[in-house]
Amino acid sequence: MPLSNRFTLTQYLIEERRRFPSASGDFNALILDVALACKAIARAVAFGELGGMMGNHNGGEGDQVVASINVQGETQKKLDVISNQYFTRMNEWGGHLAGMASEEMDDAYQIPKQYPRGKYLLVFDPLDGSSNIDVNVSVGSIFSILRAPPAVIDSGRDVTEADFLQAGSQQMAAGYALYGPTTMLILSVGNGVVGFTLDPNLGEFMLTHPSLRVPVDTQEFAINASNSRFWEPPITRYVNECMAGKTGPRGKDFNMRWIASMVAEAHRILMRGGVFMYPRDSKDPSKTGRLRLLYEANPIGFIMEQAGGRASTGRQPMLGVQPASLHQRIGLVFGSKNEVERIERYHAEPAPLELDNPLFAERSLFRV
Ligand code: AHG
Ligand code: MN
Ligand code: MN
Repeated sequence: MPLSNRFTLTQYLIEERRRFPSASGDFNALILDVALACKAIARAVAFGELGGMMGNHNGGEGDQVVASINVQGETQKKLDVISNQYFTRMNEWGGHLAGMASEEMDDAYQIPKQYPRGKYLLVFDPLDGSSNIDVNVSVGSIFSILRAPPAVIDSGRDVTEADFLQAGSQQMAAGYALYGPTTMLILSVGNGVVGFTLDPNLGEFMLTHPSLRVPVDTQEFAINASNSRFWEPPITRYVNECMAGKTGPRGKDFNMRWIASMVAEAHRILMRGGVFMYPRDSKDPSKTGRLRLLYEANPIGFIMEQAGGRASTGRQPMLGVQPASLHQRIGLVFGSKNEVERIERYHAEPAPLELDNPLFAERSLFRV
């Protein structure tokens, strides 16, 4: 095998740390543990049906078969549960964490008593897009690293929900792993965005994308159009204008994509631009959005902003939102800066008069 002159993830982290001589190395060790969990999940996903891990998780006892439901009211796949275990097992022992929180756990996860506690909090969606597992479409893991409040670090006490309720701008690092044709790890420690590709021979993440930037303009958008009757007017207006193409107000044709794995959409946008929308809508008045703030919107938002893109609720920058609960849902728009800013403008402007706008006329596809 030819000797590679690429950096491994470990080398990259050590080089980065040299810029901060006082750093303890805890942070690097934590990232490596997260990366190990992602490698384990990548293997589990890659075995597919052969691994016996497809389908729903059985939440029953003994011979009883009961689909288990997570705190979001969603059916858990076997791989959701296994991926969650990989994350907790591989990160609980190292002494770097004060606690964890996950899409698949109702409450904050306490570091078991036999292990030392550290100064960071790890928040994750262990398997994003899990409805796609059974059809062999890309899925991924998303993570966010926060600093634990000083009171937690000083006392070593158990963590509470309130300790995690920090705005996205407070994130120390964020990233995701994508389990696609290749496994990739995308990471930001607040100094731009870098991408690693898993070398399956070595089992190492190799630095293949040293500086990822989201193009500021795009002609590609992603939204679940089956929800169009529930959208708010600014989103309807934006999508209608894209759909109108060359002859509409935008004067150019757009392409549409929808994978139903946000992590895969985020990756496409990071590589070639685009805009992703899962906006707040009126489908279920008890839900303030579909995606979750702490372990979906914030880490992806951090990556986008660090790559020169933008992330927003439509009304305010995502990273400025003060979380109210661990599993809070939120409307999310992210991607190419100029498009996200346009969508924000549409939210800020008074709604255009329907009668004056041919896009909202009787024959429009997305008429409100
Ligand atoms: P998860 O599998 O972690 O619950 O997240 C799935 C999310 C997200 O990845 C995707 O964009 C969205 O759900 C798809 O929703 P629709 O089924 O409404 O398209
Ligand atoms: Mn998810
Ligand atoms: Mn998930």
